[in-house]
Amino acid sequence: MQIYIGSDHGGYEMKGSLKEHLVAGGHDVTDLGCFSMDSVDYPDIAREVCEKVSENPGARGVLVCGTGIGMQIAANKIPGIRATVATDEHMAEMSRRHNDANVVTLGGRTCEIEMAKKIVDKFMTTDFENEERHVRRVGKIG
Ligand code: RB5
Repeated sequence: MQIYIGSDHGGYEMKGSLKEHLVAGGHDVTDLGCFSMDSVDYPDIAREVCEKVSENPGARGVLVCGTGIGMQIAANKIPGIRATVATDEHMAEMSRRHNDANVVTLGGRTCEIEMAKKIVDKFMTTDFENEERHVRRVGKIG
């Protein structure tokens, strides 16, 4: 799967670990920054990643900040993006099955790395349930 990944300084270390994990899992991962622990503004990174996901149907995004919250809010402002913060595998699974989420956001300061790996794995391997009620509801989001 084509995956675009990004973080601010609060998610920089987790992004590096998740990138390695996803590449080892056979995914095609593009890292759009940040590239050091220097402070950056999470909406700038969210925009970079989400524009790529939006332009490439079937691609998914992974965004990491301190809590995952700022990245989620910023990501959902980009047309075509359905982003969810996930703190466990169930959230990741349901965001795919019912909401057809295409971006997952995580908290580098609030989530253990082993849990974060399980979350992204579940997010990448779970299909949208393509049933009429879910298609209708997602369609109403715009
Ligand atoms: C940066 O300190 C922090 O505010 C940011 O990473 C994020 O948690 C915002 O939601």
